[in-house]
Amino acid sequence: MSEAFDAVEIISAKRDRNELSDLQIDWIVDAYTRGVVADEQISALLMAILLNGMNMREISRWTDAMINSGERMNWASLGIPTVDKHSTGGVGDKITLPLAPLVAACGAAVPQLSGRGLGHTGGTLDKMESIPGWQASLSNEQMLKVLEDVGAVICAAGAGLAPADKKLYALRDVTGTVPAIPLIASSIMSKKIAEGTSALVLDVKTGSGAFMSDPEKAKELASVMVELGKRAGVNTRALVTAMDVPLGLTAGNALEVRESIEVLAGGGPADVVELTLILAREMLDAAKVSGKDPEVALKDGSAMDRWRKMVRAQGGDPGAPLPTAKEKLVITAEKSGTISSMDALKVGVSAWRLGAGRARQGEAVQAGAGIEIHAKPGEKIVSGSALFTLHSDDSERFERAKQALEGAVSISEKGEVAQRLPLVITKF
Ligand code: URA
Repeated sequence: MSEAFDAVEIISAKRDRNELSDLQIDWIVDAYTRGVVADEQISALLMAILLNGMNMREISRWTDAMINSGERMNWASLGIPTVDKHSTGGVGDKITLPLAPLVAACGAAVPQLSGRGLGHTGGTLDKMESIPGWQASLSNEQMLKVLEDVGAVICAAGAGLAPADKKLYALRDVTGTVPAIPLIASSIMSKKIAEGTSALVLDVKTGSGAFMSDPEKAKELASVMVELGKRAGVNTRALVTAMDVPLGLTAGNALEVRESIEVLAGGGPADVVELTLILAREMLDAAKVSGKDPEVALKDGSAMDRWRKMVRAQGGDPGAPLPTAKEKLVITAEKSGTISSMDALKVGVSAWRLGAGRARQGEAVQAGAGIEIHAKPGEKIVSGSALFTLHSDDSERFERAKQALEGAVSISEKGEVAQRLPLVITKF
C-alpha cells in the first residue's frame, strides 16, 4: 500500500519549526501505530516537538489521532453523570483511593483508569494491589458491572485504549522526550477522553516532588489540558496543587492504603482530608451533581461502605490485614526545634529505594515498603525522637534510602518555618 506522506518530510518540517498539517499528524500517529514508521524516526520527531513545540491546533489534532488509534468507552447506559480525576503524580499522593468511593457515595459514577508508579512517584494500581486479592485488570464488561453495582471503579487501562500512547510513551521514556508539554498533555488527555468520562478534574502537581517542579510550567500544562478537554466536550477543570512537601504521613503502597482507610473512617492527616474534599467538591460540581456533602459522607460511613464494596467487587478482602515490611529502621531528629522544611523529592526517592517503586517498567514493587513521617513542617520535635520510620523487606536497602534523606529535613531552633506552596495554587 502506498503511504500518504513520507516520515522524513514530517520530521524535517518540525525540525525547521513549521506547523504540521492535520493530515500529516493523522498519518504519522496512525502509521507509527501500524508499525510503518520506525522507532528512530518517531524518536527524532518527538525530540523536534520537545525542542520546537506545537500550537494548540497541532496538540488537539495529535490528541485526537491518539484517541482514534483505539476504542472509545461509553457509560451512557449508567444513567448517572460520570466524573474522573487525574493527578500528574507526587509523593504520598494517595488521594484517588478515598476520593473515588467518596464521590460515588455523593451521587456521581467514577470510572477511574489508573497507572503504576515509575521513578519516585507512586502509582494508584501499585497501592491498590497491596490489598490481598485485589485485581487491577478488568474487561470493559466487568468495569461496567462494578460501576453499576458500586458507582466507582479503579482499574488498569485495557490494551484497546489509546494504543498509540502506549507505544509513544515507552519511546519517550528512553529518548529523554517525556517532559514536553504537548506530549504530556496529549498523552494524559487522549486516555481520559477515550475513557468516556463526561467530566474530569485534573490535579496538576508542582514543587520538588512533582514531575513539573516549576509552577509556571505546571500552569501551562494545566491550561493546555483543560483546553483539550473542552474541545472534546468533556467538562474539564484543573487545579495546580502543592507537591513541595509529601502529602500526608506515608509514602509507600500498603502504608498509603492504611492512611486512605483512616481518611474514609473520618480521620487521617489534615492535608490529605482537605485535598480529598476540595477535589470531591470540584468533581461533583463538574458533573453537576448536588447530592450529599462529601464531608458528611466521610463522617457517616457511606464513603467507607463504597470503598469496601469497590475492593470486594475486584476480588479484594477489605478486612484482611495489609502486608507489612519485614524490616524497619527509625531515623531520629539530630536536634530539638521546629521542622522548617521537608523535601518531597528526597522522601520520594528514599521510599523508592526502599522498594516501594520501580526503576524500570514491569519490575515488581514491595507492598510493605516505604516511609512513615512522624513530624511535618511547622511541628516541634525533640532531639532523639523519631522523625521517619523506614520500611523494607531487605535491610540492605536502608543505607541508600538514608542517603536519599540527607538534607531532606531542616530543623529550626528559633521556630522558623520555610515558606511553603499553598495547597491549591491556582485553578483553571
Ligand atoms: N502521564 C501520562 O500518562 N503521560 C505522560 O506523558 C506523563 C504522565
